[in-house]
Amino acid sequence: MNDHLRGLTAAVDSELLAGLDPRRGTLEAAMHYALTVSGKRLRPLLFLTLVEALGREARHHVGLASALEIIHTYSLIHDDLPVMDDDDLRRGMPTVHKKFNEAIALLAGDTLLTFAFEKIAAAPLPAAQVVEIMGLLTRCIGKEGMAQGQALDLEFRGDAARIAEIHRLKTAELIKGSLLAADIVAGCDPGRRLLLERAGIALGTGFQLADDLLDVTGDEKEAGKKLRKDGGNQSPNAVLYFGLEAVRARIDELYREAVGLVGQLGIGFPPFLFLMKSMLYRSQ
Ligand code: IPE
Ligand code: IPE
Ligand code: MG
Ligand code: MG
Ligand code: MG
Repeated sequence: MNDHLRGLTAAVDSELLAGLDPRRGTLEAAMHYALTVSGKRLRPLLFLTLVEALGREARHHVGLASALEIIHTYSLIHDDLPVMDDDDLRRGMPTVHKKFNEAIALLAGDTLLTFAFEKIAAAPLPAAQVVEIMGLLTRCIGKEGMAQGQALDLEFRGDAARIAEIHRLKTAELIKGSLLAADIVAGCDPGRRLLLERAGIALGTGFQLADDLLDVTGDEKEAGKKLRKDGGNQSPNAVLYFGLEAVRARIDELYREAVGLVGQLGIGFPPFLFLMKSMLYRSQ
């Protein structure tokens, strides 16, 4: 990763923990633990580099960036619970329900979600923009977004025709939200918004396909999570239904689509383009 992205990651990492004190009790200790174990921080990095690409300064928006990562972290804690994917390892460390217990993992997830909105409410932006970002993100992660996608993922019983919809909802909507939040920060432009929306869905769908690929072909140490589980879990893993070659070809197609859309907007900021590529072609 280049120095620019490393700098942004450090800023996000310290902002994530601002306002949390693990000594205040088990709930905050579990939230703190989940945020300290470091992930790739892709959603905040995507947001911040797009903010920069659109001509604004990243440092004013690190709070919002951290909110995106906090929402994502909540989704992972719940995704790993025994009633969902039942995973013991996340980001190379024990999952929150293993480190603490299931009830605390449930509450830590819930509370991270509310904590994220506390951060959004405190963003140094005009109130109208804050409300717009809240509306955007609630749509991306709620009953027409991530939570719905997770519910459909659990109900999945081998109907391959539904996989694209599940991927869009459970993963691509929040990635789209990360791009559109940057659009709002930079002063909404309706033409740009439509293109970014499509780029976000292409990128997010490709990202989940890359995750499915990783489950089948990846290295567990590098991924920091248990792999080759999707088959046993009846997960809507595209590789298991369409095969490796078709999934790789679809990732290439989605990558070209996302790059084309961003190109139409004249966005050539190298860290943002680098991130797009690293999301779709990754080993962790
Ligand atoms: C994993 O997300 C879950 C998916 C949506 C595929 P990431 O691959 O972004 O996980 P971290 O944040 O780097 O751990
Ligand atoms: C997770 O998808 C999507 C969300 C958390 C919303 P997966 O279940 O495939 O993610 P991993 O493989 O556990 O990281
Ligand atoms: Mg899952
Ligand atoms: Mg999972
Ligand atoms: Mg997976």
